[in-house]
Amino acid sequence: MNAFTIPLEQVEIVEVAPRDGFQSINDPLPTADKIRCIQALLDAGVTRLEIGSFVSPRAVPQMADIGEIVAHFINRSELRLAALVPNLKGAELALACGIRELMFVVSVSESHNRSNVRQSVADSLSNLASITERLQASDTPGDKRLRLSLGTSFDCPFEGRIDWRQVEAVLAPALETTQGIELEVALCDTTGHATPYQVAEHFSRLGERFRDARLSWAFHGHDTYGMGVANALFALHHGATALDASAAGLGGCPFAPGATGNTATEDLLYALQGGGVRTGLDLPRLLEAADMIAALPGGQTASHLRNVPRENVPREKIMTSS
Ligand code: COA
Ligand code: ZN
Repeated sequence: MNAFTIPLEQVEIVEVAPRDGFQSINDPLPTADKIRCIQALLDAGVTRLEIGSFVSPRAVPQMADIGEIVAHFINRSELRLAALVPNLKGAELALACGIRELMFVVSVSESHNRSNVRQSVADSLSNLASITERLQASDTPGDKRLRLSLGTSFDCPFEGRIDWRQVEAVLAPALETTQGIELEVALCDTTGHATPYQVAEHFSRLGERFRDARLSWAFHGHDTYGMGVANALFALHHGATALDASAAGLGGCPFAPGATGNTATEDLLYALQGGGVRTGLDLPRLLEAADMIAALPGGQTASHLRNVPRENVPREKIMTSS
């Protein structure tokens, strides 16, 4: 391992295919197919997973079976399952299903927030306050963990480039609101327009601005412009400890026109393993899961590694990194 180039021995990869991936497919997939794909991801060593969203089934019909999917996996104590929630109702439903990691989503840009969750940023922040109160009142161990996903942290499909100070303007009140909660802040490149130097700037500026022991940082990237892996690595070198990715690169926000799939987990893993970073994932098995996900009807995938003949992938890169 090269200590000069890799800031962490271990990086957490958060697999988001079951949430960002499945939501990008219009026609509802059979629940059994979703469960089969999730199981394949777990077989590849995935332990952190965004399993889906507790949202209005009218807004995202693909997520209507989230309760059934969570019920299938919730007793697997080795898994860290997170679910997206846009409001208190979603949080209550998720907690009732046993989810202990809520992923609250709010966009930095007003227009994307309105398009995505049909409310102003200020209203989303009041929803965050209600969820925080709900978590603070809970005596269940592990209930005080939250991920704050800041959509359009670099670029908005309606407003264009986003400056780090605009992110600061949403993050500052969000941090005030969530005092006492262990918080992972994810800067999300919803459209995939970000470039590595912009990612570095946002992580380093915001990391300097908000120094707080209860905070950790994550990066959520899309690969629209082919920058996904580079962006994730720059995030890692500037303070992120968790990186979101989606097997086969399946994904995309239905409320962000023009954005394509998430950064493919297998592409990111290839880069990390090349630097000796341990992730716990097994690349050959991950490629099998990615193939299964890519075969789902109606999905848009964006993987590079899946297109390379398997026999051409160097042995040292495909060896398990656990
Ligand atoms: N889970 C399930 N149902 C929910 C819900 C939730 N979290 N929040 C609201 N609903 C239901 C309400 O009960 C209501 O149902 P009814 O019409 O049967 O009474 C209906 O949805 C509308 O509720 P309302 O509060 O008026 O919401 P809205 O229509 O203004 O939509 C959101 C707001 C946030 C619920 C909706 O836009 C949404 O779910 N967005 C999610 C977007 C998303 O997942 N984006 C992914 C990319 S990050
Ligand atoms: Zn996304």
